[in-house]
Amino acid sequence: MQTIRMDMTDGVDPGQIRLAGRILREGGLVAFPTETVYGLGGNALDPAASGKIYAAKGRPSDNPLIVHIAETGALERITARVPQIAGKLADAFWPGPLTMIFHKSGCVPMETTGGLETVAVRMPAHEAALELIRQGGGYVAAPSANTSGRPSPTKAAHVLQDLDGKIDAVIDGGEVGIGIESTIVDLTDEVPTILRPGYISQDMLREVIGEVRMDRGLSAMDPAVRPKAPGMKYRHYAPRAPLVIVEGSQEAVTALINERAQKALARGEQVGIIASQESAAGYTGGIVKSVGSRSNEITISMHLYSILREFDGLDVSEIYSESFDTPRMGQAIMNRLIKAAGHQVIQA
Ligand code: TXA
Ligand code: MG
Repeated sequence: MQTIRMDMTDGVDPGQIRLAGRILREGGLVAFPTETVYGLGGNALDPAASGKIYAAKGRPSDNPLIVHIAETGALERITARVPQIAGKLADAFWPGPLTMIFHKSGCVPMETTGGLETVAVRMPAHEAALELIRQGGGYVAAPSANTSGRPSPTKAAHVLQDLDGKIDAVIDGGEVGIGIESTIVDLTDEVPTILRPGYISQDMLREVIGEVRMDRGLSAMDPAVRPKAPGMKYRHYAPRAPLVIVEGSQEAVTALINERAQKALARGEQVGIIASQESAAGYTGGIVKSVGSRSNEITISMHLYSILREFDGLDVSEIYSESFDTPRMGQAIMNRLIKAAGHQVIQA
């Protein structure tokens, strides 16, 4: 299959987006930009289309998809009931990087929800995505548009690295603005529960609806406590070389990583280093990449996945990363980084 690249880096192209919508309505797959990461879209109400999404990604079929909508009214058809707090959250954060989980209605196929009786729904804040959803029939199932286990794509080139020839089209909307996936909040529990941290923080949700919990499975080092979002249990975003996170004061972290880099050099190996703009110059060996600035945390989330992908193309024996426990998005950033590191965190 030839994957069509639709260039919309300068805005939505009406002819192309109509074609993309038709591909979806006819059961095909179109990757598209959102404000978080690129999604791999198929008609959410068509079990065969969902099947194609799992096949293209090589994704385990028990890992449910998020249904993307373009207006809040679209919730009615796919949910069994919409709790009042959902309306408040939609008013506050949609379109935007928030996914809500509801009890599903009969018209959402089990193929889309990975066999669950609940459905995850999100309205993305991206013009091309919203127009594609409208043209594509109103309900677009979309996981991140990467091969299962690789970092989520933050530009169209990443989508093509993984899925060229396996999908009908990709809409190129340039680089995304946030870079890590949406916050997921489960509204089917007694107390709303965050299943995946993201740009919308626990505090932001609390301001709108009061009590909000964190899924215990998220922070658990105990493998017996399983995360509630099936996808969170898989080792995601794993770079090819082992990744180690180093915590501590900046001086100690720099010293420890420099020492490891020297040792690697003595063995004839090269390490990769993920640093911040502020600290990058302190490293004396290895391949250093600055992910972003600590004083502007979104620059860190925006570039994290793309840097992990870049290291896959380089000959490094291991990768050391600073910790990025920044004030607002730190929890979301570290959730992704710790998973990429397979929980390898050391103290400097
Ligand atoms: O920002 C995003 O959310 C991106 C863009 C494309 O919208 N999408 C995305 O989808 O990250 P995906 O498939 O990579 O991640 C979806 C996560 C998985 O961890 C999945 O297990 C969880 O959402 N999920 C989906 N439906 C669920 C449900 N009914 N109950 C619990 N978890 C669910
Ligand atoms: Mg994903």
